[in-house]
Amino acid sequence: MKELCMITGATSGIGKQTALEIAKRGYQTVIVGRNSEKCQLTVKEIIDITHNYALDFFVADLSSQQDIRKLVNDFKERYDHLDILVNNAGGFFLQRELSIDGIEMTFALNHLGYFLLTLLLIDVLKESEPSRIINVSSNSHMGKPINFEDIWGEKRYNSWNAYGQSKFANVLFTYELDRRLKGTGITVNALTPGFVATNIGRNNGFLSKIIMNIASLFANSVEDGAQTSVYLATSPEVKGVSGKYFVDKKAAPSDRATYDLETARRLWDLSVEITGVNYPLEKA
Ligand SMILES: NC(=O)c1ccc[n+]([C@@H]2O[C@H](COP(=O)([O-])OP(=O)(O)OC[C@H]3O[C@@H](n4cnc5c(N)ncnc54)[C@H](OP(=O)(O)O)[C@@H]3O)[C@@H](O)[C@H]2O)c1
Repeated sequence: MKELCMITGATSGIGKQTALEIAKRGYQTVIVGRNSEKCQLTVKEIIDITHNYALDFFVADLSSQQDIRKLVNDFKERYDHLDILVNNAGGFFLQRELSIDGIEMTFALNHLGYFLLTLLLIDVLKESEPSRIINVSSNSHMGKPINFEDIWGEKRYNSWNAYGQSKFANVLFTYELDRRLKGTGITVNALTPGFVATNIGRNNGFLSKIIMNIASLFANSVEDGAQTSVYLATSPEVKGVSGKYFVDKKAAPSDRATYDLETARRLWDLSVEITGVNYPLEKA
């Protein structure tokens, strides 16, 4: 049986390149996107390049809890194993937006999307041990601790803080999940892809597109940006390695405050409260 890898946000940028590289290596590759047409085109493009026909896709808005639950149900109907999960879908929102569940969009998509999808897939990842979870965070998490007093920017919204804290949450989630997965054959790591020329931020109007076009002149390519995700997903060098933050395929320190157990537990409990899922169940 081919090893199966699911990559979210694989219709563009770093996720698409990650899916291509993983398909090239012969894995059964399942992409998740929010747009069916884009998913179909991406699958076709990857098959044309790799001649790996073990490609499939699911459509879900990962800021919607209902969509994530449906995605997981549909996935489990079609597949009985999952060896690698790459949580990659993310966004940057200049203006404060709310998800369909009434949650600030950056937090809903960038953090709760990872949290809920991962916890709903834990059983199938467990059945596929050894298995791997990879969380795409960002260097932008540095110096952006979670503001629990105004976590959804209700009093004051700042897009950079919202983005930074969501990426901080990715690291906290990785470390806390690692502690909870001890004794299992599932590993979980986070990474920064570096500054990469992608579509991120281009959803914020005409000016943002111009700024992103200029910024992309100084950015790394998607090939570079996907390297660490692909490494963590496939390399034998990181077999059994868990609970680390990676930069350029090397474990590196994350922001000091991400190692705080109480903060991680606080974010975990809040995420459980919002989504109604927990791991392990007895710690609810
Ligand atoms: N680019 C950078 O410099 C950089 C730096 C550090 C970290 N990152 C992280 O890298 C990850 C990938 O970002 P990227 O730069 O490759 O951006 P991107 O080109 O905009 O790709 C984002 C992907 O996520 C999907 N997506 C967005 N909102 C979604 C939703 N509500 N439901 C489902 N899928 C959704 C997008 O779908 P569509 O194709 O339909 O838009 C796309 O496939 C993100 O987690 C980001 O925070 C990026």
